[in-house]
Amino acid sequence: MAPITTTTFDPKEVTVVFVLGGPGAGKGTQCGNIKRDYDFVHLSAGDLLRDEQKREGSKYGELIQSYIRDGLIVPMEVTIALLEAAMKESIEQGNKGRFLIDGFPRKMDQAIKFEESVVESKFVLYFTCSEETLLDRLLKRGESSGRIDDNIESIKKRFQVFKETSYPVIEAFEAKNKVRQINSDKPIDDVYDDVKKIFDEALL
Ligand code: C5P
Ligand code: MG
Repeated sequence: MAPITTTTFDPKEVTVVFVLGGPGAGKGTQCGNIKRDYDFVHLSAGDLLRDEQKREGSKYGELIQSYIRDGLIVPMEVTIALLEAAMKESIEQGNKGRFLIDGFPRKMDQAIKFEESVVESKFVLYFTCSEETLLDRLLKRGESSGRIDDNIESIKKRFQVFKETSYPVIEAFEAKNKVRQINSDKPIDDVYDDVKKIFDEALL
């Protein structure tokens, strides 16, 4: 007999859309638009990690900082725990349980573990963009973001990790027909027109 597995949330009650794409693809920007128009809660894995890194008394602060600076993927236990806690808190506050999870999963083990233990995703919104545009955007953002990884050295490492570690996650979801792909090399409003078509069609 197959083992009985239960997830923290029931996928009939909790909707998760993973939002993926290279660094600088516009995930956060478009999540802001979707959140405004489609009643979703936006959870950025990177933001949750940065908040935890800064939190006084966090035992993961130094570890997170060094992973982020090197563009490496923080061990999944940390990121999944932060996401799960943020989802629980949001539902306790009365939100409906509709989540855009931005920048996650970035590695195959995260994808498997999250869907096995937290909740299965509805689909993956994937932003594709040329590396040239990504680099331009990140360097521009680096002028004011204060992020320790918006510099040329970290950016190069992030690109490499995206190709080697994160892209296979997208391929795995693709094999299950769960990827909705959008070219985000265009201006923000044009990208959002394409995003809207997907969300309108998905009836979300
Ligand atoms: O998505 P964002 O660009 O904000 O992520 C910044 C960094 O946070 C990543 O380069 C990586 O070091 C870390 N991160 C991670 N696992 C995730 C998301 C982000 O380790 N799922
Ligand atoms: Mg982001």
